Amino acid sequence: MLKRGNGRHIWMGNNHFASNDITAFEQSFEAQSVRLNFSPIDLGKVEGHTVRLYHAPHKERKIPRVLIAAGFHGDEPAGCWGILDFLTKQNPSLNEQIALSFLPLVNVGGFQRGCRLNNQHENPNRGYLYQEGIKPSFEADMLLNFSRLLQDVSADGVLCCHEDILSQNAYVYSYENAPEAGPMSYSITTALGRFFSIEKEAIIDGCQCHDGLIFNHSDSSFESWLFQQGARVAMCTETPGLAGFEQRIQANSHVIGTFISEFLHE
Ligand code: NI
Repeated sequence: MLKRGNGRHIWMGNNHFASNDITAFEQSFEAQSVRLNFSPIDLGKVEGHTVRLYHAPHKERKIPRVLIAAGFHGDEPAGCWGILDFLTKQNPSLNEQIALSFLPLVNVGGFQRGCRLNNQHENPNRGYLYQEGIKPSFEADMLLNFSRLLQDVSADGVLCCHEDILSQNAYVYSYENAPEAGPMSYSITTALGRFFSIEKEAIIDGCQCHDGLIFNHSDSSFESWLFQQGARVAMCTETPGLAGFEQRIQANSHVIGTFISEFLHE
């Protein structure tokens, strides 16, 4: 049986960059960050590369604060490139009605190798909350040093862009303060449904997925942690790794736009 975590996974993008081209990714991201007036905050170094949070500072406290994150698993690069694609399509007025922050690439080493885990074979999306037998990954330790900042920038919502490299279908881990999934969760599955078929009914990693949603599943992941820390909603999208790379990039870009627009219409 195929298992997540095995092997190297590298794709070629329409931009002629390989999915693991860290130099192209970092340079392109920096350029967009400057153009859109984001301020980088250094969170730590991994294998010679700096992990950064890109933040649009705001004095106005009443506008929504939303965090978009990706690149926890090195074999799931379409989230990272999807954030970049989304930013290339925006203009600086993006930051007028919403305080956006981006954490585009966490597992830098895994990204370069095209491998899920970090170089210590740890899962960079585990250990944010105490769970018996799970010690924080290097990346979790690094991000937990900035827990106040990360909680602040995600107070209204956090979207984490993952991929399921073994899947043909898309699905979402969603977290809301409600007994069942609300319109925001369904707007995200609808957005993904423009690009892929949605996983209707399945057991995925021991979780019940219904209508493309695994709802309020608590574990020690980054998104589950931020939701427990007070983020009003958290979503973790899983685009299907068996679909084409460019299609997955465009899907992530579109879903990011959908997620953000949910806060502008409130
Ligand atoms: Ni993942």
